Amino acid sequence: KGLRVSDKGFLNTAVIRSEITYIDGEAGSSYPQRFPKSTPEACCRGYPIEQLALHSSHLETAYLLIYGSLPTKSQFEVFQTEVLHHGVTHSDAAQFCRSFRYDAHPMAILTSAFAYLGSYYAEANPSLQGQTLFSKGDKASLAVMDKQIYRLIGKATTLAAMAYRVRQGRDFVTPPTGLSYTGSFLYQMDHLGEENYTPNPILEKALDVLFLLHADHELNASATTVLQTGSSLVDPYSAIAAGCASLYGPLHGGANEAVIRMLISIGKPENVPAFIEAVKKREKVLSGFGHRVYKTSDPRSFIVRKTADEVFKITGKDELLETAMALHEAAMKDEYFIKRKLAPNVDFCGLIYRAMGFPLDFFPVLFAVPRVVGWLAHWRQMMLQEGGVKIWRPRQIYVGSGKRDYVPINERI
Ligand code: CMC
Repeated sequence: KGLRVSDKGFLNTAVIRSEITYIDGEAGSSYPQRFPKSTPEACCRGYPIEQLALHSSHLETAYLLIYGSLPTKSQFEVFQTEVLHHGVTHSDAAQFCRSFRYDAHPMAILTSAFAYLGSYYAEANPSLQGQTLFSKGDKASLAVMDKQIYRLIGKATTLAAMAYRVRQGRDFVTPPTGLSYTGSFLYQMDHLGEENYTPNPILEKALDVLFLLHADHELNASATTVLQTGSSLVDPYSAIAAGCASLYGPLHGGANEAVIRMLISIGKPENVPAFIEAVKKREKVLSGFGHRVYKTSDPRSFIVRKTADEVFKITGKDELLETAMALHEAAMKDEYFIKRKLAPNVDFCGLIYRAMGFPLDFFPVLFAVPRVVGWLAHWRQMMLQEGGVKIWRPRQIYVGSGKRDYVPINERI
């Protein structure tokens, strides 16, 4: 009674006040007064994503997103050291990852591994410790929270590298010391026992930029899932596992994998017009195009293109690039896409991952690992919000059967 269902898919529902990321899908036209007109469309804690991609690193931006300001040198050193230090996992977690089949999807492994971690850290579990575990004014509880943040960001790369290697029947590699976050990640995936092995610095940097671009993006489906799940005061490992599951789908983080599968299915550029026609007849979806908020362009897609140029100089161009360009060109001038304001989104970065040699089904993992940062930023903000957490429990409009009496099975027709 008194309820209205009018917002399927939350097109126009704001569920929280947030200070983390601001995105403007209409290219600057509706920025709050304090931003000049020329401000780019995505800002993390007020800093334009282009500036961060150029000058910052994934871990520095992680600190910014989670704690609200750019770290001082010493704050950054502590954060980086803690995150990298917590990359090491208990040997049981390695055993858990090893128990998956060789052909398991790595997102299934990663999602499960995050949930598995929750069984270790009872100090972060409000069900076990009492409901008011995290509170803004309590230093000890903030320290407990920080520790889970270090652990989750640090272990994300380790678990992802395990998910990668288990399918190749290879042993796991202990996180190295002295490398950057992405350097350590590449090391854990690629190292085959060679002496003095270090990842290619250009690829390491490119991956860092892509991680930074993926770190947070406002209340997308997975961040919302983390908040919805976290609102029951479950431990952060379970909330992050839920976010990971949400990201897995092809309309969200699975889109970077879907883009490449789509390009492979199209094959040569001359097949693009037929594919576009199939999309217009709704027989196919143009993966990597469209966005709930961006209606002109996705500012991250320009940085992805620049990063691709740098990576291709090392790896050579991907054979699907020409098909991707033909598809892009055809869609950008076709009335169907213009009318619906559909432009390329960030998921075309799958071409870079392919050139770098990552297997196709690993691409969503390369989205999930950096997005752990954004999920944690939103989770932390909600846990510490004024007035405490309110459980997210929406209502529905019931449209099912009226009241009726139970019929025993033998009397049913
Ligand atoms: N190909 C063909 N038609 C599309 C596409 C597409 N990729 N995206 C939207 N449309 C159509 C849609 O059918 C609808 O048409 P109509 O008004 O005639 O019914 C119209 O455009 C409006 O789209 P919508 O479905 O209402 O948009 P949405 O905000 O609900 O969905 C989206 C956004 C990203 C799920 C959707 O654009 C999509 O499915 N894109 C392909 C998958 C993809 O690339 N996902 C990654 C998103 S960006 C990274 C991330 O956050 O994960």
